[in-house]
Amino acid sequence: MVKAVVLGAAGGIGQPLSLLLKISPLVDELGLFDVVNTPGVAADLSHISSVADVEGTVAAKGDFKGEQPETEEAKKKALTGADIVIIPAGVPRKPGMTRDDLFKINAGIVKDLVVAIAKYAPKATIAIISNPVNSTVPIAAEVLKQAGVFNPKKLFGVTTLDVVRAETFVGGIVGEKDPRKLNIPVVGGHSGNTIVPLFSLAKPSVSIPADKLDALVNRVQFGGDEVVKAKDGAGSATLSMAYAGFRFAESLLKAAKGEKGIVENTFVYLPGVEGGDAIAKATGVDYFSVPVELGVNGAEKAFNILADANDYEKKLLDEAIKGLKTNVETGVSFITNPP
Ligand code: NAD
Ligand code: LMR
Repeated sequence: MVKAVVLGAAGGIGQPLSLLLKISPLVDELGLFDVVNTPGVAADLSHISSVADVEGTVAAKGDFKGEQPETEEAKKKALTGADIVIIPAGVPRKPGMTRDDLFKINAGIVKDLVVAIAKYAPKATIAIISNPVNSTVPIAAEVLKQAGVFNPKKLFGVTTLDVVRAETFVGGIVGEKDPRKLNIPVVGGHSGNTIVPLFSLAKPSVSIPADKLDALVNRVQFGGDEVVKAKDGAGSATLSMAYAGFRFAESLLKAAKGEKGIVENTFVYLPGVEGGDAIAKATGVDYFSVPVELGVNGAEKAFNILADANDYEKKLLDEAIKGLKTNVETGVSFITNPP
């Protein structure tokens, strides 16, 4: 029996992500929690004739800080027995904002939800979508450390949307009708120039015309802004993110069931994953998105492909590392040295 839980399940990402999990044969039980509307979302999904049982629990009315006993009960009910918890809870960007501008609100939301995971599902695999991912993942790690239940192999920042965008945009340039056939590593973090697509390491190899390279890199790094601008104040990517989040969750679930050879680019705590220490030493950052082999225990192995990047990409990596260091420190100190 596999139980998947979505925290923030009534939101723009949460609803379509919950739909994809509900119709997945890999999920037997689906727990949905949000501060609003979850019973309605759960009732709606429960009429779908797929395997998973669905239950939606909601915070006490108006309890956005999650402080009331009914809210605690709702989190407990949703999380108990969870194998995988996916977190898209939090506010999205509006035009003119950076992901870091979301920190003020989302840092506290992620902290409170991970405190509940540590209590009610301490062994669950956790996948964090809430922005800024470069800081919310370190926040989650510090909360889990303080609770004595941190397993670095089971904590992931979801950066799959960057990979999905890279596949799509490159597919358009090289004329590949099924962009999923392209395997393009995207490493670093998940915001602006901390996102580094490594086109030179694509498999099969791709030939990007020199006059298109800068614009292509920029489009992958700032693809989120394209959607924020087009939505014009109504939020950021939700449907493509639900697809990407489900794709990542599906890989975690398949690997947990014993399927071999599954590799995903994901943001992990490097010193806690085999092969990660060397990457942390080379970059000077403890958190990085790199290709990671997934297995029954979670993150089995991090692949150090950074040294294989070409000179153009190495310059991008240098820039990414600077930004990442600050983002990671901001997340860590939010817990270790609270404001
Ligand atoms: P949204 O506002 O549509 O939905 C967020 C949901 O979170 C809402 O239903 C809200 O009620 C809920 N929520 C707020 N506080 C909560 C709490 N304490 N507990 C439980 N639920 C709570 O936003 P969205 O478009 O779904 O985006 C959600 C987050 O995902 C944003 O931070 C956004 O920046 C991020 N995001 C990340 C990626 C990525 O690639 N990692 C991609 C897209 C969006
Ligand atoms: C994205 O990459 O689309 C998300 O991180 C949302 C955003 O704020 O751009």
